[in-house]
Formats: sequence, C-alpha cells, structure tokens
Amino acid sequence: MPKPRNYSKLTNDLAEEYARHSPKSAALNERARQTMIDGGSHSLRLINPFPPRLVSAHGAYVQDADGHTILDFWQGHYANILGHNPTVVTSALAHAFESGFGTQTGFTDQLQIEVAEILCKQTGAERVRFTTSGALATMNAIMLARAFTGRELVMKVGGGWHGAQPWGLIGVNFASGAEPWRAESQGLPGALAREVIITRYNHPEMLHEHIKEYDNRLACFIVEPFMGAGGFMPASGEYLRAARELCDQYGVVLVFDEVISGFRFRAGDLGSMYNVKPDLATFAKVIGGGMPVAAVAGRADILKLCGREGGNTVRFPGGTYSGHPASMLAAKTLLTHLVEHANEVYPRLAQLGALTRQAIEAAFAAEGIFARCTGHPNETVRGSSLAVPQFPYDAKQPLLDPDDVNDPALCDVELRDHIFQLALLLDDVHVVHGGGSLSTTHTEADVVRLGEACRRVARRVKA
Ligand SMILES: Cc1ncc(COP(=O)(O)O)c(C=O)c1O
Repeated sequence: MPKPRNYSKLTNDLAEEYARHSPKSAALNERARQTMIDGGSHSLRLINPFPPRLVSAHGAYVQDADGHTILDFWQGHYANILGHNPTVVTSALAHAFESGFGTQTGFTDQLQIEVAEILCKQTGAERVRFTTSGALATMNAIMLARAFTGRELVMKVGGGWHGAQPWGLIGVNFASGAEPWRAESQGLPGALAREVIITRYNHPEMLHEHIKEYDNRLACFIVEPFMGAGGFMPASGEYLRAARELCDQYGVVLVFDEVISGFRFRAGDLGSMYNVKPDLATFAKVIGGGMPVAAVAGRADILKLCGREGGNTVRFPGGTYSGHPASMLAAKTLLTHLVEHANEVYPRLAQLGALTRQAIEAAFAAEGIFARCTGHPNETVRGSSLAVPQFPYDAKQPLLDPDDVNDPALCDVELRDHIFQLALLLDDVHVVHGGGSLSTTHTEADVVRLGEACRRVARRVKA
C-alpha cells in the first residue's frame, strides 16, 4: 500500500454522496448548528460533514430521520452490551415509572445498596462510590490517590483515554516527534502538563524506569487492562503484573480504568482475569445498562477519604444525579442479567468478535488492501467483542500499543478514522474510531453484512 495516500478527492466524493443519501439529517444538522457548537454535544458523535440524526434504536440497529436502518457497532460508546434498549432493562424502567418511582433523585434507597453489593461481589472491591460519568470517576480516583499518598504526580499511558477531566486530557493525541503525546486541550492549569508522566503501554521496562525515576513523587499509575480508544489492545500479563509489583514497591496507587473493560469480558472486572488487583478501579459504560452510572471501587482505606471516617478530605460527593434511582434500576437489572447469564453472554460475544475481526480482514484482503484488526483477546483475556481495523503499511508492524496504531507514518490513520466511517455510512453501517463493539443482539448475518460493506469501502479506496 503506498504511503501517504491523499484522500481529499475521495473525502469530497463521499461527503457529496452522503448528503444525497441523508438529506433530512443534513437539514437537521444545519438547524442544530444554529444552537450547538458543531451541531451537538459530543465531538465524537459529530461526524464530518454531519451525523445521522436518530429517531429510534433497537438491538443492533438504529433508525435515522431519513428512514435508514443502520447497523450499529458503536453501541452507545460500547456501553450497550445487550444492544440498544434491551427489553429486560426498558421493561423494568417502564414498570418503575408507572408505579411512581424513577426521577426522585436526591434521596438514597435500597437499589443503590444492591448495585454496590453486585459491584463489590463481582470485582472484589471493598467499597464503591457512585458518580455519573467515567471522566468523573477517573478524576476522583486520581484525587483520592493524590490525597492518600500525599504525592502530586500522575502517570498514564500515551494514548490512554480516561475522559475529559484535567489529568486525563494530557497525553491523548498523537503528534510525530520525540515526544509523541501532547496535551489535548488548552485552558488547563499550566502545572498540569508537568504533573502527568506519560509512559508506553505494554512496556514493562519503561514503566520500571519511570516509576523508579519519579519514585516518591508519584501518586498513581492509571491504566486500562484492555486499551480502549487508544487502539483496542489487551495488556500483557507481564505488564500488569509488573505494574502491581512496582506500585507496591514504590508506594504508588494502582488504578485500573475499567470504564470500557468492566463487565465487557466477564461479569465483573477484567483485572481478575489477570489475577492482578488494583488499589482502585473505575467503572462506567456497561454497568449503567444504558443510563449514566459510573463508580470508583476499591480499597476501603483509600475510598474512606471521601467520607466521614476519612474526614471528608477528598471532595467527591458524586453529583446531583449520582445514584439516580432510574439509573440504579437500569444498572441493577443489567448487572443481574449479566451475572445470571454470563455463561451465554460472554462466549457469544467472544464468538461474534472473532467472526467480525475475520470478516473485516478478509473483506479488505479480497480487494488487495492489507488490514489487521486489533481487539483480539490474548493468553489471559478469553475472547473479545471489540474490533477495529488497522491499516499498517508494513504487514509485520507490531500493533501492541497506541504508538503503533496512531502514528500516521506506520498506519493509514486517515483511512481508519474518517474514510472508513463515512464510506460505511453510505451502506448504513455505523462505526466510530474505525471500529466498535458487538452486542448480544448482533447476528452472524450482521457480520456478513459488515464484511460486504467493507469490501465496497475497499473498492472505493482502490478506485
Ligand atoms: C477507558 C475510559 N475511561 C474513561 C472514559 C470517560 O467516560 P465518560 O465518557 O463516561 O466520561 C472513557 C470514555 O470513553 C473511557 O473509554
């Protein structure tokens, strides 16, 4: 494959065809832009030139204003593991609303206890505190770690996405050069960039060097056991075990960000599969059953800092909508379902994930374009329902960390992130970051349809 490709003509052609394909969404986008920046409220959803505007969603499919039935692999930012609007959750919510229960936020109830009990039991955490987004969970986990250790530095992986919170916004975007990861956002406190140490995923030696170098200034190391937005790759067992040992040795709080991986690979945390226990873990996405639920879970002696016993040292109240009754009901219903049906849900997801990765790779290969999916399981993670095609220029290029897949000198990032998405939408298939997650409602036929759509994308690219 030649590098770098110039996609400006293809991008224009796709945008024009897409405007003809979805005139109602185009018109709604113009209206949206009169009141919202870029026509919406989450940058990732605001596809250029415009996103499909939804009217309904069920299972693996969403319907847009133009009447298209779109096969969706984004599935609510990978939250909707049972597909969109699963009856098991929506019927529980409908019944609750009918009986006068659901939006009375501001109190506490038995449901919160039940959800906390499920989380503790399934993840081995001693205590839980709820909030409403993954970003708030990771931010509060970092605050707890800094307060607990009395240290200021935070270490994270280059390309690791922990949500739009101050520490999480450093080291997110790839930039060529000696320091490949730069600050994501302006407007942050100046000291922050110096407080965040960037290390490389799946590199135990670099981790060792960094932890040794920053030693008694390092409060925490936050890492995803399965890299999400950075490129869908599992941590090696060696890496996570090294992280645990080094954090113990140097008194650093180990935080697993399980916002994507929690309850995605098993009915619990992913750390347990590695037999590595973090000090704190963050959960969101899947656990909410489609509603905004997030949690910090872990050691009681750290979490107590946000409560009376710890002197309320860390201000982590959770927010007005934390432990929201309707959200807690959705969470309890979904988590109970996952625990009770784990033997069906996770093998099925793993099977669909493997088929999807094969189908994408085969479709591109059939058209003479080399694609290799990330999202594979490894020797520890048994089965994965995540898939994203990477287009490395060299077939032998290792794809083990975000540096490998986000460097435009190594992989065709433009094809993955933009061309693929827009071209697939013309076939009524929706992906974000080039890929997505499977839900239990996807079928083999859906995977075949995705494969056929990928072939048409490949033909456009070749042309
Ligand atoms: C690993 C990880 N952590 C944290 C977040 C932030 O979650 P939220 O978007 O709910 O704030 C995300 C979101 O994609 C994520 O993938």
